[in-house]
Amino acid sequence: MKILAIESSFDETAVAIVEDGTQVISSTLSSSAQLHRKFGGVLPELAARKQVEFILPIVKETIEKAFVEESKSTSILQLIEEHIDAIAVTVGPGLIGSLLVGVEAAKTTALVTHKPIIPINHVHAHIYANFIDTISFTDHLSEIFPAIALVVSGGHTELFYMENEKSLKWLAGTIDDAAGEAFDKTARLLGFENRGGIAIEEAATNYRDTNSFKIRLPRPLLHNDTFNFSFSGLKTAVIREWKKYSSEQQNTLKEQQIIFAHEIQETITDVLVAKTLNAAIQFNAQSILISGGVAANQCLRDKFLTIIEKSDHSFLKFYAPKKELCTDNAISIGSAAYFLGKQEDWHTITATPNLPVETSTNL
Ligand code: KG4
Ligand code: ZN
Repeated sequence: MKILAIESSFDETAVAIVEDGTQVISSTLSSSAQLHRKFGGVLPELAARKQVEFILPIVKETIEKAFVEESKSTSILQLIEEHIDAIAVTVGPGLIGSLLVGVEAAKTTALVTHKPIIPINHVHAHIYANFIDTISFTDHLSEIFPAIALVVSGGHTELFYMENEKSLKWLAGTIDDAAGEAFDKTARLLGFENRGGIAIEEAATNYRDTNSFKIRLPRPLLHNDTFNFSFSGLKTAVIREWKKYSSEQQNTLKEQQIIFAHEIQETITDVLVAKTLNAAIQFNAQSILISGGVAANQCLRDKFLTIIEKSDHSFLKFYAPKKELCTDNAISIGSAAYFLGKQEDWHTITATPNLPVETSTNL
């Protein structure tokens, strides 16, 4: 089954064709992220305008790349009619202006090509990036599920229980800031402007454990019985330690940034790994699947592998998507539509900025 998937929830415009939820036939992505840099955050109005500009050329390019020869003599709509089985689209959560562009493009395409349409929750879809190339379902299905899935992105930190590849049950999430948000806010405090988690990871790789002055940030809710997360206190703790460090130490700014980046990364990853592992143990999971932008973090990946290996649960398998599929893309939307999605009449599909993620699907 070939699904044409559209993602436009934030500042990325992405379109992909995915076969049977696991194979990428064609994929195109354009981002307005660069344009927002000078404003210190994404401007919704600008993001929506860029979505409008990008959406049709990107749909066209994705179809042309998939059917190179035929596209010379056949129209785009005809190619969709002949080769595509369904259209999937992110309906939320996200920015209303951005979402509307993808949703309306998907509805119009479905209407004129007589295809079914599958609405997708962006946060749930992140998990399915794991199903592309890295997990071969036909070979490993019975070894993977039940699984615990952790979604860690700029706006979300959520834990789900997956009885099988087609079901999701929300367990818990952050009670304040998301993990990616914590990386982004503390990165700004360290002077890394808008480069967020990537800048922290880069700086932390230069860390050498030679400095006698140790900083220690709190690990919120680490020993709490729930699976909830809390990252909003991290910013205040970083400000406090930064002042103390600056007054007591003579290091260069770069050295100071490295020391703080290392401890911030350790703090966030310690909490994510411990909570997710506890959930996996409590729910007798066979594996842990991580996804979302923060899942690109190598320290997080390594820590999961080390802690699982050292634990009494070393049988647990660990999966993370290819790094480029951790951040927003349409491939995950196409995969989620295949495994999780339900076709709906196009009249009922609407962009829903506050679409809840705390839901159960197919249970
Ligand atoms: O999934 P994503 O692209 O967008 C959302 O759906 O929110 O995630 C973006 C988030 C940002 O907060 C960014 O700082 C974080 O993912 N991120 C990282 C890394 N790469 C991206 N955080 C830590 N380490 C990374 N390598
Ligand atoms: Zn996302």
